[in-house]
Amino acid sequence: MRWIDSLEAAAAEKLPEAVHRYFRQGSAGGISVAEATAAWSQYRFRPHVLTDVSTVDLKTTVLGTPVDVPVLVAPTSLQRQADSDGELAMAAGVGAAHSALAVSSNAGTTFAELGAVGTPWWLQIYVVKNRDITLKMLDAAVAGGARAVVLTADTPVVGRKENDGPSVWEVIPPGQLLANLDEGEYGEDDLSKADDLTPDVIGWLAERTGLPVLVKGVLRGDDAKRCSDAGAAGVIVSNHGGRQLDGAIPTAQALPEVAAALAGTGTEVYVDGGIRRGEHVMTALALGARAVLVGRPALWALTVGGSAGVTRLLTDLSEELEHAMRLAGASALDDLTPDLCVSIDR
Ligand SMILES: Cc1cc2nc3c(=O)[nH]c(=O)nc-3n(C[C@H](O)[C@H](O)[C@H](O)COP(=O)(O)O)c2cc1C
Repeated sequence: MRWIDSLEAAAAEKLPEAVHRYFRQGSAGGISVAEATAAWSQYRFRPHVLTDVSTVDLKTTVLGTPVDVPVLVAPTSLQRQADSDGELAMAAGVGAAHSALAVSSNAGTTFAELGAVGTPWWLQIYVVKNRDITLKMLDAAVAGGARAVVLTADTPVVGRKENDGPSVWEVIPPGQLLANLDEGEYGEDDLSKADDLTPDVIGWLAERTGLPVLVKGVLRGDDAKRCSDAGAAGVIVSNHGGRQLDGAIPTAQALPEVAAALAGTGTEVYVDGGIRRGEHVMTALALGARAVLVGRPALWALTVGGSAGVTRLLTDLSEELEHAMRLAGASALDDLTPDLCVSIDR
């Protein structure tokens, strides 16, 4: 069995049942989470022949940061349930693969400790009702060396999860979330998500931090353009791993429209959701993504193999990408253009 495919079952053996369910589940009826991977497999390739693929180069830059591989790690919470060192182990594993990661604002690790690992990282931010909390987090992230701010825009309210057992919040010990806030300092109301955001928030975040801002959760070309016009340095095409609006379209379907809307703007395009194979990465890059992010696979790999597991995940996906590129006649990421793919369901 392919190692990546074995990870979830192996992680399930190690994780409390409620945590495993929390990692894997989608919201509501689970339509979007179930469709994500299959949607990447709806594309077929039109490979080139008679091109020199004796060397294949996977290096690129993400918002100016060089990375060896176009596979990054998406922000996820509760990483201390996967590994006692949580985000520190995740960052170390990503760093060993010479990639980069986004870190959840719910992280169980302080941004100062995270910065000391040395792996390039982006802060994922939920703007919350009490803006002082958001400002405090932004300042801590800047001090910890974050290289960008990822604004999660698909969460004006948290998607409902349907649990057939105790919820994760009933079983996790204290201290595993929000390590960058003083415990007890704020009430539930302060921490609830802002539901009045407009594109102006992009400039507000950029001004406060001096960092490039990516908007995560974009699924439409018109919204991507609004983000770009408001100064976003990038967008992440995402449906939050199927955890927000259930029935939101698969990112594999949304990506071409977003990439077309941003052509020529210089706004970088990223994508996540259901990416599990090198062929999926190749499809995403051909359809206009600069790099992809993986969420759950990184949690499973961290659970099963700690930081070395995360490194192996990124290395395995990159090796699969390199192999697929050779077979498709592509020797560099720039060779991956939309004409390489056709969708078989259109
Ligand atoms: C357990 C879990 C926690 C997550 N926490 C966050 C979060 O704190 N902030 C955020 O923007 N996205 C969060 N996400 C969404 C991921 O960043 C990402 O969009 C998604 O997992 C990608 O899909 P994939 O898991 O199929 O790779 C979370 C996802 C999971 C599975």
